[in-house]
Amino acid sequence: MKPIRKAVFPVAGLGTRFLPATKAMPKEMLPIVDKPLIQYAVEEAIAAGITDLIFITGRNKRAIEDHFDSVPELEAELAAKNKNELLEIVRNILPSNVNCIYTRQPAPLGLGHAVLCAAPIVGNEPFVVLLADDLIDAKVSVTQQLVEAAHRQNGSVIAIQDIDRNHTDKYGIISGEAVDEKTTRLAGIVEKPAPSAAPSTLAVVGRYVLEPEIFEHLRKTQAGVGGEIQLTDGIASLLTARPVFGLQYEGMRYDCGSKAGFFQATLELGRKYHGL
Ligand code: G1P
Repeated sequence: MKPIRKAVFPVAGLGTRFLPATKAMPKEMLPIVDKPLIQYAVEEAIAAGITDLIFITGRNKRAIEDHFDSVPELEAELAAKNKNELLEIVRNILPSNVNCIYTRQPAPLGLGHAVLCAAPIVGNEPFVVLLADDLIDAKVSVTQQLVEAAHRQNGSVIAIQDIDRNHTDKYGIISGEAVDEKTTRLAGIVEKPAPSAAPSTLAVVGRYVLEPEIFEHLRKTQAGVGGEIQLTDGIASLLTARPVFGLQYEGMRYDCGSKAGFFQATLELGRKYHGL
């Protein structure tokens, strides 16, 4: 498999669950303690050797572009006041070898459609997709764990987690055969099945390493659950042609798309990393 250098961040969603906070601000800019959700995801990708960050944006997402850009007036002010620690934080949001690329999803047609918007930028290389809502605290970047598995297996790899059967209707759910203790080769994947219809309790978490063949499958994918073009359905089609694996990663995931998960992340990461 070719080296994996590009990461796609679908950030066009409206974030209605956090209204009114997200009325004028992207949900990905909500902070856990002092860092926006999107920055946690970006740092995880960079720790895995990603150098090209591709953001699929929509209306009201300017703050994300501003966040990863330099702010000369702020830097000058911090330098003049000798606030060197803060100056370093502001200057070092991204290493100098990392590029940001922004493209717009013209209409909210679903996660699969958002990923397809990256096709002209990704080209013919394997790439990563990170959903910033899923914050994963891990010793080894979960993206790195997936990238290593993709090279090992020579196929696409999706992060999976064993969940309570009552919650299958919130996730993509896979079925398949175990390859080793942590890896399952997918035989199927369905988006948000009812608990009684779910083929297993192995749920997709928002991290994917995908081979570029996914784009041809997404182009053929019709609207599915919620009337949206689902990435899950694109992957269901991909796995008829190419191997796809699920990896039970090492790390603690917080569902920061929900208030409970967001609160738990704030509390636990605040304690762990900020002594709060
Ligand atoms: C998306 C995917 C779903 C996946 C989930 C992980 O759903 O469609 O398959 O399990 O992310 O967070 P969403 O949470 O955007 O509804």
